[in-house]
Amino acid sequence: MELVDRIIISEEDIQRRVRELGAAISQDYAGKTITLLCVLKGGLMFLCDLAKHITVPVAYDFMSVSSYGDATESSGVVRIVKDLEESIEGKHVLIVEDIIDTGLTLSYLVNNLHSRNPASLRICTLLNKPSNRRVDIPIDYVGFEVPNEFLVGYGLDFKQLYRNIPFIFVPRKEFIQEA
Ligand code: IMP
Ligand code: MG
Repeated sequence: MELVDRIIISEEDIQRRVRELGAAISQDYAGKTITLLCVLKGGLMFLCDLAKHITVPVAYDFMSVSSYGDATESSGVVRIVKDLEESIEGKHVLIVEDIIDTGLTLSYLVNNLHSRNPASLRICTLLNKPSNRRVDIPIDYVGFEVPNEFLVGYGLDFKQLYRNIPFIFVPRKEFIQEA
């Protein structure tokens, strides 16, 4: 059955914006080394593309937090499924996220990471859904503002699938209901 209802952001538009973000980050962090903190699994595709366009030295680390389960709405319950491997004390940490929706996941994460004393802590998200925000968090880099709809592709999943699709789309209602 046809999965895609509407394409919201094309592959070309994502790649263009990712290049711009990489250039801005490279400029802002000139002379520094960045630890890109990828929030799994949604941030993975974005991290890989973004990192190619950053010209200062970059290290990766990965964290996995869960707030959604398989539902399409945030539960507000955040749990660390996988923690960082390295200490971030004294490091310039840039969190790389796929999407900020209610902000609950990230606000928990930011509080947790601040207590580990990084030299700096900033947030880069590909997508921002401001209309659904429940806690205020300062975002340093945003790829695109998106409407309050359930989106899939380029890191975003529906029941853990379709993260690999290179564009971002609204799935067909019939598809979601039958799955
Ligand atoms: P928040 O805690 O509500 O900000 O949710 C953040 C997480 O929920 C994101 O990192 C995504 O994994 C997931 N999420 C939020 N909106 C969507 C969506 O439209 N499609 C798929 N996953 C989403
Ligand atoms: Mg995520």
